[in-house]
Amino acid sequence: MSNTFPRVDGVLAVGGVPVDRLAARVGGTPFFAYDRDRLTARVTELRAALPAEISLSYAVKANPMPAVLHHMSGLVDGFDVASAGELQLAMDTTMPADRISFAGPGKTTAELVQAVAAGVTVELESITELRRVQDVSSDLGIQARVALRVNPDFAVRGAGMTLGGGAQQFGIDAEQVPSVLAELGDLDFYGFHVFAGSQNLRADSICEAQRATVELVLRLAAMAPTPVRYVNLGGGFGIPYSARDTALDLAPIGENLAKLVDTSLRQLDARVVIELGRYLVGEAGVYVTRVVDRKHSRGTTFLVVDGGLHHQLAASGNFGQKIRRNYPLTVATSAAATETVTVVGCLCTPLDLLGDKVELARAEVGDLIAIFQAGAYGLTASPTAFLGHPPPRELLVGATAHSLGEFKWRQ
Ligand SMILES: Cc1ncc(COP(=O)(O)O)c(C=O)c1O
Repeated sequence: MSNTFPRVDGVLAVGGVPVDRLAARVGGTPFFAYDRDRLTARVTELRAALPAEISLSYAVKANPMPAVLHHMSGLVDGFDVASAGELQLAMDTTMPADRISFAGPGKTTAELVQAVAAGVTVELESITELRRVQDVSSDLGIQARVALRVNPDFAVRGAGMTLGGGAQQFGIDAEQVPSVLAELGDLDFYGFHVFAGSQNLRADSICEAQRATVELVLRLAAMAPTPVRYVNLGGGFGIPYSARDTALDLAPIGENLAKLVDTSLRQLDARVVIELGRYLVGEAGVYVTRVVDRKHSRGTTFLVVDGGLHHQLAASGNFGQKIRRNYPLTVATSAAATETVTVVGCLCTPLDLLGDKVELARAEVGDLIAIFQAGAYGLTASPTAFLGHPPPRELLVGATAHSLGEFKWRQ
């Protein structure tokens, strides 16, 4: 998986550049480095596995770094945003507004104004949100484009995080959808969105959810006031975070979608969307932090680093993990014989644990530790203000001609 990042002269490299050189370039540690070519490769791999009829939407929440978004805007077919802040970032890229959708509970009226003025699709999460969009639409004199986010009458098995089925703050319960459709008035009704779960490594359960979603959408489409032009099947594709995890097998998902596109979905003349965050960017990122202390306490060797959970909360196990497992990590600047150590961050809390009893090359003060799978839900999913340490740097690195300083004019 991610530990496939190569080494250059013994030092781990991102985008072809050794991380000690990246540290010098950005003015120190800690930092997040994202590999441009890995982002591109991931989208290419997905495109090859999924039928051509499937549109790929990137969920900006996974990694909203502007440079990443700009790169992604040239690779995917749409963006999913979850706040006016993300909307602003998405609108700064080349992604057309009509390929941006805004989902999420608790949209304020001010955010709805921004979304309608921007011309993006508002994914309605409740009947009251519908009424507020109608008011905004008539105040602005703009026909808002809306889709209904549906809370399905089924739940996905095997998802790390469930966002559909049962009682939810997300979406409109499937059984309430007919009455909401009847109240759409003169809004521009686009279609349906069902997002049932996240971080799923089981292709069979993703396929099952997709089939159930299509069935549900067809049932609801029959009650829609105008033809359905948009079917967002959600996503939930997971990535492996520990040695116990097996990478998701895309082949059955591609086959399942091809079957759905060729059969049931033929009945609709709709853009069919798969919406992914973590899967597109998670494995392309590395969090790099420096050892500032090495100490022994009652039989345990601790490596204390200058980063921690305030930058990379997920690696500490405190971002929705049911069972804490170490994220994959390595000593980026050493290939010495290994030892068992515990890697902790610099925050004065026992929660700041980055590697619990891990086998790593011996590291000294000054060495760099790299934590993999840091491209999604890293910096912006972390409590950066906690304890007042400085924020990390972020950079997007690619094997472009100038990444090692040897700039060459293109022929
Ligand atoms: C509506 C919606 N879309 C997309 C995502 C992205 O999920 P993931 O990063 O697991 O692909 C989420 C995650 O919570 C979501 O709620």
